[in-house]
Amino acid sequence: MAFVKVCALSELEEDTPKRVELDGTPVSVVRTEGEVFAINDICSHANVSLSEGEVEDCMIECWLHGSSFDLRTGKPSGLPATRPVPVYPVKIEGDDVLVSVTQES
Ligand code: FES
Repeated sequence: MAFVKVCALSELEEDTPKRVELDGTPVSVVRTEGEVFAINDICSHANVSLSEGEVEDCMIECWLHGSSFDLRTGKPSGLPATRPVPVYPVKIEGDDVLVSVTQES
């Protein structure tokens, strides 16, 4: 699985998602609760960017209709979204944040 550098750890603000694109895949990178997560940036309910939503309790909330997705599993906490959003493995190397979109975790 190919890990690609997406940004520097130091440029990620706590609970502020950063949208990046990896091989044409939009990814929201989130630093929260001492960890970094990578989740597909598109809500499973409609074509909305999750990185524009709020982060709380290891969940990212879709700003349009309010479904929240677990950053660890991609699963929605409630309606209207019913399908999970893909999440991707993250590696930290020094100040580099690396993500692999070739395999969903
Ligand atoms: S578009 Fe995200 S919950 Fe509806």
